Amino acid sequence: MNESTAPAVHVIDHPIVRSRLSLLRQESTDSLHFRQALHDIAKLMVYQMTSDLETEVIAIETPLCPTEGHRLKRPLTLVPILRAGVGLMNGIAEILSEAAVGYIGLYRDEETLEPQCYYSKFPPNLAESDVILVDPMLATGNSSAEGASQLKAAGATRIKFAALIAAPEGIETFHRQHPDIPIYTAHIDEGLNENAYIVPGLGDAGDRYFGTV
Ligand code: URA
Repeated sequence: MNESTAPAVHVIDHPIVRSRLSLLRQESTDSLHFRQALHDIAKLMVYQMTSDLETEVIAIETPLCPTEGHRLKRPLTLVPILRAGVGLMNGIAEILSEAAVGYIGLYRDEETLEPQCYYSKFPPNLAESDVILVDPMLATGNSSAEGASQLKAAGATRIKFAALIAAPEGIETFHRQHPDIPIYTAHIDEGLNENAYIVPGLGDAGDRYFGTV
């Protein structure tokens, strides 16, 4: 695969992202501060993830005169994978407040070890939407890849993937199945441990966000 067609991985390297990510990693950070830090990072990720969204010109009127304005050309849809995706999605939705929110629920089949979908709900205009798939920990890549497959099966064509932390193994697995979907992440970590947790990572993102540690 030559450079121009290589699947895209955007690492959002920013001083605030780096400092908030360290807070998330720190074991002593409680869920209140974990949530705040995650939402801060999410808002900074949005800036880069949406920088190429198309807009169209509209006529508007200020209190003084008519002028030209802009609006997003397509509807936006955020799709977190349950449960941990909800935390990162909440931060993203603070900026993209007009976005519809779909959901994907997955569990792991203990015999095949493959992710199985137990719930999905998408807005009817998914095919016309700019879609952001949200899963904070890109570990093995199996769940995220299944989430992306569910989106495509439901008609989505313009998909981006927001993963707070990515493992190299997860990036490879995801992009082997979905080379067309760009990944946006705050950091690429070293890899996975024997329990498929990201190292150094931050532990279980859902437990830490929802206070169920
Ligand atoms: N899911 C998590 O919450 N953390 C990991 O490190 C891997 C998967």
